[in-house]
Amino acid sequence: MYWYNALVMSVQYQITGSAASEIAASIESGVRSGQLAPGRTLPPVRKLAADLGVAAGTVASAYRRLRERGVVETGGRAGTFIRQRSAFTPTGTLTVPTGVLDLVSGEPDPELLPDLAALKPRVDIVHGNYRDGGPCPDLLDLARDRFAADGVHGELTVTSGALDAFERGLAARLEPGDTVAVEEPTWSNGRDLLLSAGYQVTPVAIDGEGPLPDELEAALAAGAKAFILTSRGQNPTGAAVTAERAAALRAVVARHRGVFVIEDDHWAELSQIPLHFVADAADRWMFVRSTSKPYGPDLRTALVAADPDTKARVQGRMAIGHGWVSCILQHFVIAAWTDEVVEEHVATAGRVYAERQGALREALAARGIEAWGRAGLNLWVPVADETAAVVALRDNGFAVAPGRAYSFHGHQGIRISTSRLDPGRADAVADAVAQASGPASPTI
Ligand SMILES: Cc1ncc(COP(=O)(O)O)c(C=O)c1O
Repeated sequence: MYWYNALVMSVQYQITGSAASEIAASIESGVRSGQLAPGRTLPPVRKLAADLGVAAGTVASAYRRLRERGVVETGGRAGTFIRQRSAFTPTGTLTVPTGVLDLVSGEPDPELLPDLAALKPRVDIVHGNYRDGGPCPDLLDLARDRFAADGVHGELTVTSGALDAFERGLAARLEPGDTVAVEEPTWSNGRDLLLSAGYQVTPVAIDGEGPLPDELEAALAAGAKAFILTSRGQNPTGAAVTAERAAALRAVVARHRGVFVIEDDHWAELSQIPLHFVADAADRWMFVRSTSKPYGPDLRTALVAADPDTKARVQGRMAIGHGWVSCILQHFVIAAWTDEVVEEHVATAGRVYAERQGALREALAARGIEAWGRAGLNLWVPVADETAAVVALRDNGFAVAPGRAYSFHGHQGIRISTSRLDPGRADAVADAVAQASGPASPTI
């Protein structure tokens, strides 16, 4: 009944104010208190202007501010509505009922994360002063070698994880209101971040081999100023960019050299398949390798390679505010990267994740179900009706995520997280998926 209460409360909520800032503040306050529920459509500009006795431009300006702050979204016939996850809504955690196998949480398996405590004796835990802050030269040297081994060159810096790098890179190169092309389906945290920072997003459909070049061409021709792609282990699909696809994407980017390309290689150390690098086909680019998946999300660091200008802007802006990523954390990354036991642990984790994902992919294939996913923590299965599939699977004891959490074009699919899936249970899951999914749509 939550939606009913929210609806009734929304209907009763009175938007007030005579200046754009007051109207925006009134709506913001309604969202914060829960009275304006996610998905709730706001009155058309002219109607609200007439109700408040203000010019239409004043309401339009209030709505624009809210859009730029990630509170509302405007989309076709839906008009302007409260975002499902606004800048005020904390990330929801999904509760999986007891007795139901959790195939929802696409998080690293804690059992497969290395023991960082064992590294403590090797980490320089010393007080650095303000003048000592910044990217740690030893870490940059190590990263330079690792990146060069994968054909990635450029200037290096360190951020507090992948999302932090995206935010800083985009702020360095784009204006609020600019359009960013994102994979469809896409990592919802990334999309939320873009909308909250005031960018527009436009979809580039993908398949199991990465973004479709024609779709990218169309998005860039229509004016997208940036493009974010995932090298391997794309979330939610598990797609990985192949050599052939990378070449085709590079050709598209080369025709639009002004575009800013961000490449997210979060699965790097865990990947069993090589990197096919795309980003540096553009003049302005950023390659981001987070430590979250192999070493643990709480390390919150990412090594970033970029063109010199982008790197200088990102690092320079960070120096003014946030300062730098703690040198203690950076020393943990150095210790992890140079410790044989940790390296072996991460290599094993990569193989285990691949076995878990592969076991389910093969079990599904044996039942005639084609799932996307060659790397990462998830598989994507296109289905005819995702709501029916999610409910049927839950009734059979398996919790999976509906595509709508990641797909903004309404393509029907389910994300099955294989992060902690015992390969011995792959057949049981595949049987349930076969039962639950209708005829799959061939591509999205
Ligand atoms: C697609 C993708 N990129 C990057 C990350 C890591 O992000 P961060 O470094 O901000 O933890 C994740 C984590 O879930 C992810 O799914």
